[in-house]
Amino acid sequence: MNYAGMTRANAPARIDMRSDTVTRPSEGMRDAMMAAEVGDDVYGDDPTVNALQDKVAAMLGKEAALFMSSGTQSNLCAMLGHCARGEEILTGRDYHVFIDEAGGASVLGGIMFAPMPIAEDGSLDPDDIDRTIKPDDEHCPISTLLTLENTWHGRVIPQDKIHAAARRAKDRGLSVHFDGARMMNACVKLGIAPADLVAEADSVSMCLSKGLGAPVGTVLAGSKSLIRRAHRARKLVGGGMRQIGVMAAAAMYALDHHVDRLADDHANAIRLGDQLRAVDKLHVDMDVVDSNMVFVDMPKGSSEPLQSYLRERGILINAGEPQMRLVTHLDCGADEVDLFVDEIRGFFA
Ligand SMILES: Cc1ncc(COP(=O)(O)O)c(C=O)c1O
Repeated sequence: MNYAGMTRANAPARIDMRSDTVTRPSEGMRDAMMAAEVGDDVYGDDPTVNALQDKVAAMLGKEAALFMSSGTQSNLCAMLGHCARGEEILTGRDYHVFIDEAGGASVLGGIMFAPMPIAEDGSLDPDDIDRTIKPDDEHCPISTLLTLENTWHGRVIPQDKIHAAARRAKDRGLSVHFDGARMMNACVKLGIAPADLVAEADSVSMCLSKGLGAPVGTVLAGSKSLIRRAHRARKLVGGGMRQIGVMAAAAMYALDHHVDRLADDHANAIRLGDQLRAVDKLHVDMDVVDSNMVFVDMPKGSSEPLQSYLRERGILINAGEPQMRLVTHLDCGADEVDLFVDEIRGFFA
């Protein structure tokens, strides 16, 4: 994501394709939030949070889980839970934990990152993992953790590639953390149960506030001992929240009602890509439209004027130069896609 080109909304937009994080809670979700039983979660007293944590732990096939405020906080607490100072995390060169989370593990944990090349499909090469792991030598940091990510920029990485990378790391004694900000998109696309998608991972961050449509929240799942350490890290970063069952109820609602419908977002992304590639001057590589993101190449110099043209018409996008990323979601369905394409045709005409 190129945050330099990030567009801010001054008013609610008619169509917002900047991200799947922009969704607003539906009426059903708001009702669930209103009805939530709550308690003080720092005391472990919030029944809705406890129910959410149990549900996600079971869903992901892990021993325990912990509700976090965001994906960044969840990944950070996982990394702090897995690694000590002087240890090292292997990850993809442009995976979110390395480039988009303010270097938290290094800043707060004295942990190094060893970024690796990423294949076109978003996967890591097991041989690169072998080459990157440091020898047992006092000159070197101690390679402790591999982090994976799926989906990656909307790409759904094939399960055999995830399996191969995780296996290689584990054979070499590393633990594996899975950044599953949009893992349900991958599950729906691949037709795989969540527990199977992350079977190799020692810990998993699963976001509720992206395609699943909750206003806030990520759940970190893993072994009891890892979650215990992550809980301490969450305290350290001020992440203990009180009557947060209101938000956990939204997350529960999202898991109960918004998983299967991710297939609609994927279908709408294809609808969008197919229509845009018929527009003169635009190029869309449909081979990379695996889930809810579409990347469109535009003529040089069109990013700024296009964004203002659309903003005047109540449409928000994030466009870098020369590519825009468009995201379909709960509040951006087939009608919005068609309206959007009409406006794009107008601009490029
Ligand atoms: C792959 C990935 N991981 C982690 C995050 C961080 O999530 P949050 O914005 O909730 O901190 C994001 C955010 O978009 C993401 O795309």
